Amino acid sequence: MTMLASSSSTARPSRTRGEFSADSIVVGQSARMRAVFDFVRVIADSDSSVLITGETGTGKEMIANLIHHSSSRRHRPFVAVSCAILSETLIESELFGHERGAFTGAIKDRPGRFELAQGGTIFLDDVDDVPLSMQVKLLRVLQNRTIERLGGVRAIPVDVRVITGSKRDLKELVKEGKFREDLYYRLNVIPIVLPPLRDRREDIPALVEHFIIRYFRQRGEDPAPISPAVMRALTRYSWPGNVRELENACERVAQTCTCGHVRVGCIPASVLFHQSADEGLEPTLVTPEPQTVAVSLDDRLRDVEVNLITWALRSCGGNKSKAAELLKMKRSTLGDRIAKLGLDHLEAPHAAPHAGEPVQGSDGESDVPA
Ligand SMILES: Nc1ncnc2c1ncn2[C@@H]1O[C@H](COP(=O)(O)OP(=O)(O)O)[C@@H](O)[C@H]1O
Ligand SMILES: [Mg+2]
Repeated sequence: MTMLASSSSTARPSRTRGEFSADSIVVGQSARMRAVFDFVRVIADSDSSVLITGETGTGKEMIANLIHHSSSRRHRPFVAVSCAILSETLIESELFGHERGAFTGAIKDRPGRFELAQGGTIFLDDVDDVPLSMQVKLLRVLQNRTIERLGGVRAIPVDVRVITGSKRDLKELVKEGKFREDLYYRLNVIPIVLPPLRDRREDIPALVEHFIIRYFRQRGEDPAPISPAVMRALTRYSWPGNVRELENACERVAQTCTCGHVRVGCIPASVLFHQSADEGLEPTLVTPEPQTVAVSLDDRLRDVEVNLITWALRSCGGNKSKAAELLKMKRSTLGDRIAKLGLDHLEAPHAAPHAGEPVQGSDGESDVPA
């Protein structure tokens, strides 16, 4: 499998991708992600351990999968295990398997994930959650390249490339005495750091497009055009849950958007409400950019309405009465418009911003139908 650096076409911005199956495309055009893709290509065929560090949702498993599918092991299994969800006692049996009778409930022999990954790659995610007692066993496996099933006596050779994922800096955990130094060096032969999404915002538009297309297609529909105002709002948000959060937001947008265009009103309130302190609260009215295509006045007016109501509700922490005052209209009329425009999610109490947190102003530009 090759990694593709697709060239730009006239219609779309250039995009760099790592691709390993029809529906598993790693999107990223930022310099930092391009560097990761280049690096993956270089190290794919080595058998050395890889440690991928990055906040949760940055794509660690995806990159591990890409490494596997870029390597000569790609016709053998890729096995991913999260060490976070496994209790201490379960990890050992899960990773190394057990023989019948090894413990109560072990009614038959069962191979562990290492054996299942034979000839391929194992991805141990959340390795920072592996308890010290288990770390020593893991180290032994990496040194000897053999495993022993729980309750077993045989050493079973395993030919498996080990990739680990960590959301914390393992070096720091070593300093704190929570992670074995020897294991750290074993795992960290090839380090890869995945930056959080807020440090590579250039990737956001391509990711949004990728996810929106995917979810609309899943619904059997043509993807709705995404307005520039939506892209700006999504690009400004800090995405603490990284790509996973963005993916979920796009899924919700695709589920709820029935208006034919993805507009600001379709974005989850949690995303709209978030704002960096230096952004103003003023709604700005829109002067259309010089157009060569027709502009629908109704669409324009609707967008202005969405922007102003969104701005007012945000400015008032979702309080409808106060927002109505700000817009110089009756509360009931505002209520009707909110319902009509599908902006209910911006109303308090569900959508009230955290106390003391500034709320975001209007995006200030209309959603020009594409
Ligand atoms: N660069 C990317 N391109 C496309 N999808 C991505 C990208 N990075 C992450 N994702 C998607 O985001 C979600 C979280 O990624 P994952 O690899 O599980 O993150 P992590 O292991 O760091 O928590 C997955 O559904 C994955 O498909
Ligand atoms: Mg993960």
